[in-house]
Amino acid sequence: MKFASVLGVLGALSAVAVCDVKVNPLPAPRNITWGSSGPIPVKQLSLHVSNNAHAHDALNNAWTRAWTAITTLQWVPAATEAPIPHFDPFPTTAPKAKRAATKAITGVKLSVADSQADLQHGVDESYTLEIAEGSDRVAIRAQTIWGAMHAFTTLQQLIISDGQGGLIIEQPVKIHDAPLYPYRGIMIDTGRNFISVPKILEQIDGMALSKLNVLHWHLDDAQSWPMQMRSYPEMVKDAYSPREVYTKNDIRRVIEYARARAVRVIPEVDMPGHSSSGWKQVDPKLVACGNSWWSNDDWPKHTAVEPNPGQLDIIYNKTYEVVRNVYNELSEIFPDNWFHVGADELQPGCYNFSSYVSNWFAEDPSRTYHDLAQQKNRRIMMWEDIFLSTEAAHNVPKDIVLQSWNNGLGNIDNLTAAGYDVIVSSSDFLYLDCGKGGFITNDPRYNVMSNPDASTPNFNYQGFGGSWCAPYKTWQRIYDYDFTTNLTSSQAQHILGAEAPLWSEQVDDVTISSSFWPRAAALGELVWSGNRDAEGKKRTTLMTQRILNFREYLVANGVMATALVPKYCLQHPHACDFYYNQTAIV
Ligand SMILES: *[C@@H]1O[C@H](CO)[C@@H](O)[C@H](O)[C@H]1NC(C)=O
Ligand SMILES: *[C@@H]1O[C@H](CO)[C@@H](O)[C@H](O)[C@H]1NC(C)=O
Ligand SMILES: *[C@@H]1O[C@H](CO)[C@@H](O)[C@H](O)[C@H]1NC(C)=O
Ligand SMILES: *[C@@H]1O[C@H](CO)[C@@H](O)[C@H](O)[C@H]1NC(C)=O
Ligand SMILES: *[C@@H]1O[C@H](CO)[C@@H](O)[C@H](O)[C@H]1NC(C)=O
Ligand SMILES: *[C@@H]1O[C@H](CO)[C@@H](O)[C@H](O)[C@H]1NC(C)=O
Repeated sequence: MKFASVLGVLGALSAVAVCDVKVNPLPAPRNITWGSSGPIPVKQLSLHVSNNAHAHDALNNAWTRAWTAITTLQWVPAATEAPIPHFDPFPTTAPKAKRAATKAITGVKLSVADSQADLQHGVDESYTLEIAEGSDRVAIRAQTIWGAMHAFTTLQQLIISDGQGGLIIEQPVKIHDAPLYPYRGIMIDTGRNFISVPKILEQIDGMALSKLNVLHWHLDDAQSWPMQMRSYPEMVKDAYSPREVYTKNDIRRVIEYARARAVRVIPEVDMPGHSSSGWKQVDPKLVACGNSWWSNDDWPKHTAVEPNPGQLDIIYNKTYEVVRNVYNELSEIFPDNWFHVGADELQPGCYNFSSYVSNWFAEDPSRTYHDLAQQKNRRIMMWEDIFLSTEAAHNVPKDIVLQSWNNGLGNIDNLTAAGYDVIVSSSDFLYLDCGKGGFITNDPRYNVMSNPDASTPNFNYQGFGGSWCAPYKTWQRIYDYDFTTNLTSSQAQHILGAEAPLWSEQVDDVTISSSFWPRAAALGELVWSGNRDAEGKKRTTLMTQRILNFREYLVANGVMATALVPKYCLQHPHACDFYYNQTAIV
């Protein structure tokens, strides 16, 4: 972990922060109640694990990380809801007089009920954290070590600088916390552009702090195959370069780093669409239409929605043998019980180029991949296309988890009504790559000197500016997404969570962190504690200061999150609101 911008942050310390430090961590806990005794000093905190928890190492390491962040950063909340002296049209709680502190917090007492629970889907992530009136301890209880890790990332945001070289925490405080959804993810795509291991770890740092628990790793795509394989060493010839390769140790390092931070890693090998690189090295006949023109200019003949084309030839018998070996080899490395096999965006036009596909609709690839997974006792995840697209399979087993990316609430309604468990990734809300314009070159549609319609300034062809899912999704767009709208309660139970994908056609090491953060943290709170207060009202307005502060916190922790507002807005709560009416968002 890197600690940047500490100096800039310390400069922002205001007298007010010392008196009233009810910093709200992100994601907001499900239930946090403060007393009114005021902040007390925090001394060197040592961790005491009360019951004989196995996994002491994992807990001690997690605590060491949190404590190192606390002491190194000496965090001063960059944005608070407390009144700001020179601009305060929205007074909140009055600052309390600073009292002479007699006591200090000197330890963390942790008890973990089941210290052996594995990090898998649905594991209990709840915790409670309490500093009782007059106590010198932070008491944490968790069902599992994973919940304990979440408690640490909460606590590390609550302990802040006293402005005089010491640390303080507001108390008494009582937190009851548990996620609304068991699946809270982001997706990294290392097929379109390579992402280095350190940059992947940086994303995991951001995930841990915002309590996101699933890293969906879209490993390869038609463009490149970055994984070294034992069964087919020739596949990695289709990496972008010998240096843009993941060795087995690289992959293990990512998985272990994530696991140490309560983050699962679900691999995706996209099949049978989006497949060319790697596979074609094993046998060119595995890949249909790999050498065709993708044909966006003559759409009826198109073989792919973006270059370069390629789909696994699903009638060629050897395809299944190679798929099985690749799947089995990756299954040995990835300990997660889930495996994503893609199944999105099949282009029938591509199969015109296959010498084997005569009638692909007669086959049922979802069946095949499903059977494959059953041998390993894994749960299979696919993009919704396998069930909803024109090229859908006949019979998609009901235990396949479908990831919904199109048509917002409509597809969520359809899939859950049909009885599928769903991960929400609606592109209109959660696709983080949208709004950058097209990456396709030689595109005459940009070569226009005046707007075709004067009422739409900066029209930029078709209004989409070359991006099929434009515009850019702001953190508000993400946070305000009510993805269970109009579902019956039994449909709603089929929603396992949500995930924000970042396709990497225009993303690499240089921009990945600023593309994910802090927007992914808005999703983090949405799926951890929701976007509404106890009365059921949208709390987007209160989230503002929380996410502005969290952005500064991410940067301080080495996660290169982008700026959201002029710093003025962060320092002057609500000065940059659209409406003076604080309940304008309902
Ligand atoms: C939060 O916890 C407090 C004290 O434990 C309790 O009184 C209150 O009802 C809880 N609030 C909610 C919304 O659950
Ligand atoms: C595929 O074959 C069909 C039927 O022969 C034809 O109509 C279609 O244009 C072909 N598509 C491509 C991409 O060549
Ligand atoms: C695939 O294998 C089956 C049974 O093993 C065989 O009947 C069929 O001819 C093979 N198809 C091709 C295209 O090789
Ligand atoms: C879902 O969509 C599919 C494909 O469009 C359709 O056949 C099916 O009837 C829909 N199901 C529900 C429950 O709406
Ligand atoms: C939800 O259902 C209500 C009542 O049928 C309808 O008026 C509303 O438009 C629906 N909302 C959405 C987002 O579909
Ligand atoms: C503020 O907005 C809410 C929601 O639109 C509305 O109900 C309320 O009347 C507004 N208050 C004022 C003072 O305009």
